Amino acid sequence: MNKLFSEYSIKNVKIKNRICVPPMVISLGNEGYVTLENVNRYKELAKGGAGLIIQEATGINKEGRLSQRQLGIWNDDQIEGLKDIVNAVHAEGAKIFVQIHHAGVTGIAEQPICPSSYEYQGYGRTVVGREMTIEDIKAVQKDYIEAGRRAYEAGYDGIELHGCHGYLISQFLNKRVNKRTDEYGRNPEKFAIEIIEGIRKVTPEEFIVGIRLGGFEPTLEDGLHHAKELEKSGVDFFDVSYGFFNEQEIHMSEEYKYSNAVYAAEEIRKAVSIPVFAVGGINSAELAEEILNETKVDLVDIGRGVLINPNWANDARGGRDTGKCLNCPKCMWFGQSKTCSGKVLFERNNERG
Ligand SMILES: Cc1cc2nc3c(=O)[nH]c(=O)nc-3n(C[C@H](O)[C@H](O)[C@H](O)COP(=O)(O)O)c2cc1C
Repeated sequence: MNKLFSEYSIKNVKIKNRICVPPMVISLGNEGYVTLENVNRYKELAKGGAGLIIQEATGINKEGRLSQRQLGIWNDDQIEGLKDIVNAVHAEGAKIFVQIHHAGVTGIAEQPICPSSYEYQGYGRTVVGREMTIEDIKAVQKDYIEAGRRAYEAGYDGIELHGCHGYLISQFLNKRVNKRTDEYGRNPEKFAIEIIEGIRKVTPEEFIVGIRLGGFEPTLEDGLHHAKELEKSGVDFFDVSYGFFNEQEIHMSEEYKYSNAVYAAEEIRKAVSIPVFAVGGINSAELAEEILNETKVDLVDIGRGVLINPNWANDARGGRDTGKCLNCPKCMWFGQSKTCSGKVLFERNNERG
């Protein structure tokens, strides 16, 4: 496990190994404010040995939320609570970024916004997103920039823009969703690039600003183009995942050994010279080590693995059983269920007392 447990630096931030806990909405807040449960949850994850934790999708404003209980970073009075998470994680020797998020058409707003009119079916309702005016665009960008400033003030080591999985930035990047005829349609990266430039103006140069991108948005060719354009804007890393759910075209060889998101990360890694993280079904230390060596990505994301076993990284290092996600058709962790069968099985097999 030479590479998995080797140090890695992004700018001045030294990460003790190549294991990243990707953002996962798992602990939910109190109307957007941090609770003791949130702090304990992140402390437990940091104790588990991962070098980097990316805090779950945290709302930049109330309109863009996915639920009433989603954590938020839209008000200065939220900074105190967020600091508690940061301090708890730092005390355990891990670094922490926060993923900042706006859901766009997929959010809970009565009439959600979207780059252009788009019919979205989800959460038991069908909504048609209202096309954003230039004023809407500027206002939402300002909310992202303010969220970036608050993240810096709360002590995070960096931020990750949520730029995939069908949320607002992904809606701009995906040409099947973004039908605008102005510059935000002709140049789909413009919305995110202006946010990054704005955050740079209100935070010191060493503050890390990265983005989670869909590799297939809607095709890999588009994903590569987005990555190259964003790299020019001075972004610090790409965390590569999947794109807008029903609006992506995934083509790769059937022989490819890893997940399609890992494939996209490998291809993006070849095209850019900034750090790239890979995700998707990385369910053992051996696989994580192999992916680092074979694809040349810089960090590996262990998502559901740490939900099953928060001590995943320490166990991997000690050569112990790390547990395995059983890939249920619908992950039981959505909705905060404690009935994850992979977790139950892991705990039964590993009564460590
Ligand atoms: C319960 C749960 C919540 C998630 N929440 C987020 C999120 O807030 N932001 C995000 O970008 N991805 C989110 N994801 C996706 C994960 O970050 C990760 O990409 C996915 O689980 C695949 O990695 P894995 O195979 O290691 O689990 C979530 C996944 C799960 C299971």
